[in-house]
Amino acid sequence: MIDHVPVMVREVLAALNVRPGGRYVDGTVGAGGHALAIMEAASPGGSLLGIDRDPEALDVARRRLARFGDDVRLVQGDFAEVGRICRQFAFVPVHGVLLDLGLSSLQLEGAERGFSFQREGPLDMRFDPGQELTAAQIVNDYREDELADLLWRYGEEPQARRIARRIVERRPLRTTIELAKVVEEAVGGRARRQSHPATRTFQALRIAVNQELLSLEAALPQAYGLLGDLGRLAVLSYHSLEDRLVKEFIRRESRDCVCPPRQPVCTCGHKAGLRPVSRGAVRPSPEEVAQNPRSRSARLRVAERSPASED
Ligand SMILES: C[S@@+](CC[C@H](N)C(=O)[O-])C[C@H]1O[C@@H](n2cnc3c(N)ncnc32)[C@H](O)[C@@H]1O
Repeated sequence: MIDHVPVMVREVLAALNVRPGGRYVDGTVGAGGHALAIMEAASPGGSLLGIDRDPEALDVARRRLARFGDDVRLVQGDFAEVGRICRQFAFVPVHGVLLDLGLSSLQLEGAERGFSFQREGPLDMRFDPGQELTAAQIVNDYREDELADLLWRYGEEPQARRIARRIVERRPLRTTIELAKVVEEAVGGRARRQSHPATRTFQALRIAVNQELLSLEAALPQAYGLLGDLGRLAVLSYHSLEDRLVKEFIRRESRDCVCPPRQPVCTCGHKAGLRPVSRGAVRPSPEEVAQNPRSRSARLRVAERSPASED
């Protein structure tokens, strides 16, 4: 079976300040790697609510976490609804919330999921196989300008227009390898590039299929709302679009006033409720990057909920 090696486990445990008896939410439980480490550090008496959109990932997590019995609850759902899900299970307030964004090795390496440009598979890319929208629909049905916009916005792909034009000329496209070849034709081969030419196109499609940035934007304020005094929010992101959202959220919630800078008197009434725990993002050690190349782009941001009296 493919193994998903969890990223920056030691740093995540420190970020969440995991303690015996603590109560934690893992909004992206995946194969359960971080959840297992959290539960080991939270024992005895700890508990965890794990959420994932992918039922296959939840099956793996369920097996891995079985020994914790009722102390671990796993739910199929979108972390965009983390507030509702936690209230539904009376799992509030909590000591920490973790989001480890993006996709797992199980998903990337399962050819039939269609996430990888190196494995022949359908153009799928859904985290939740019950969802309707697939990558094939975007690739084959969107207008050329819509495709170009999506590749530019979610892939930060400088050659977005050229790729969109070539996709439209060559459709219908059915498989990951067909799409990867079309992108390669549009922008040239790998010469002078560090990554495969289709990397950004695949990232953009995955973000669009799963509405990843919208989910993250919805989840952050809810996760913050779940934290008890001194509770911790930890988010691991793997590209600049996600990281920017997290950074801006923490910055905003760490300020007493969010009025426009030139406004002489504050009218917003906003109160700081979070405190960034580290300056900037925490990065994986060179040793971890050498052992687990997937960790290379990881950035961990952490914030702590201020005690209620300071709100
Ligand atoms: C990087 S993996 C998490 C791996 C996990 N931390 C571990 O140690 O095994 C990200 C997981 O988040 C899930 N995911 C992505 N977006 C989600 C969302 N909006 N709601 C719930 N789960 C999501 C994916 O299905 C995937 O399993």
